[in-house]
Amino acid sequence: MDKLAIFGGTPVRTDKISYGRQCIDEDDIAAVSEVLRSPFLTCGPKIDELEKKLCEITSAKHAVAVSNGTAALHIACMAIGIKPGDEVIVSSITFAASSNCVLYCGGTPVFADIRPDTYNIDVEDVKRKITAKTKAIVAVDFTGQAVELDELKKICKEHNLYLIEDAAHSIGTKYNGKPVGSVADITTFSFHPVKTVTAGEGGACMTNDDELYKKLSLARTHGITKNPELMERESEGPWYYEQVDLGYNYRITDFQAALLLSQLNKLEKFSNRRKEIRKMYDAAFSEMPELFVQKQIPESDTTQHLYILRLNPDKLKCTRREFFDAFAAEGFGPQVHYIPVYWHPYYEKLGYKKGLCPVAEATYEQIISIPFYPALTDADVEDTIKAIKKVTEYYRK
Ligand SMILES: Cc1ncc(COP(=O)(O)O)c(C=O)c1O
Repeated sequence: MDKLAIFGGTPVRTDKISYGRQCIDEDDIAAVSEVLRSPFLTCGPKIDELEKKLCEITSAKHAVAVSNGTAALHIACMAIGIKPGDEVIVSSITFAASSNCVLYCGGTPVFADIRPDTYNIDVEDVKRKITAKTKAIVAVDFTGQAVELDELKKICKEHNLYLIEDAAHSIGTKYNGKPVGSVADITTFSFHPVKTVTAGEGGACMTNDDELYKKLSLARTHGITKNPELMERESEGPWYYEQVDLGYNYRITDFQAALLLSQLNKLEKFSNRRKEIRKMYDAAFSEMPELFVQKQIPESDTTQHLYILRLNPDKLKCTRREFFDAFAAEGFGPQVHYIPVYWHPYYEKLGYKKGLCPVAEATYEQIISIPFYPALTDADVEDTIKAIKKVTEYYRK
């Protein structure tokens, strides 16, 4: 193998294959164009259509489509009544939105550690972190793999807690045969471009609970309703509506909904390709002692969102930064998912200290996300493997 590109060798690729990207085709473009030519850009029929489709796909009773996954998490915390003094147990390796939603409501995020093999929330640590103030758990299906939903639901039942499943990564995943979206009290999705299906920006809350559904719907639209059942006064006429609570404008537009509907038609195809790519990567990397591949629990039939490699410091003489830079120089755009949330300066100022979740912290120092999206060709995947092997060989102890 030739010299690493970072030291003047020939790179495996020159086109910077990114760790993730959207897959948009002519059908998607046509679906958006159709809405742009229609009378409704927002508050139109595509929203209902989208919500029905999400319910169909997930088997959930209700869907509330919103402007992004962060908004979905915020209204989920509002709907379950998070308020100052309440504690919510949150995964420590995740995007900040998973715990910011608790702060938006005045609650206190309590970070639970992760499992060293799946990188999902550690159920035993969740149990240790429950206090009299705990109101809910926000568990993230990290990289698309479902969290241990049966165990978490059992804990929630025992302690009278709500379970919010942050499924930003996991649309299309099934847990014990049940689609993600139909199991937790509220499941939230994100439809950001790197996710499995995209609306540009978009999100949704799924629930089987009628009362939570009403609260989610109100919170999405200023707390305003036209539903006579929710209004406090007699209607004054067809124009009449009431604000009965304080909510936000978290609506998604009809052209975003149209894009997402078109993308959802391809969910199975995307999911299958993601599974194929994971198999190719797993086959290449699981035999390499220098690297750990993410463990899959048998309960999760995973639509993989990200592919993460963990470096084995006993077998490699480089830092994660050196490995990352060398791989990037070979023509790739890796990423790191994620910095432990409470390490961010904002959280540090709130009083969170390093050392809270040792497994999450050690994992963060060793992980790297490599290219993973359905449009990757087999040749792209093979080049990615070649580059990872080249870097690994160079830095092998
Ligand atoms: C785990 C997780 N939760 C929540 C979000 C927030 O979603 P959005 O970017 O749609 O607001 C993201 C998005 O990156 C995420 O990865």
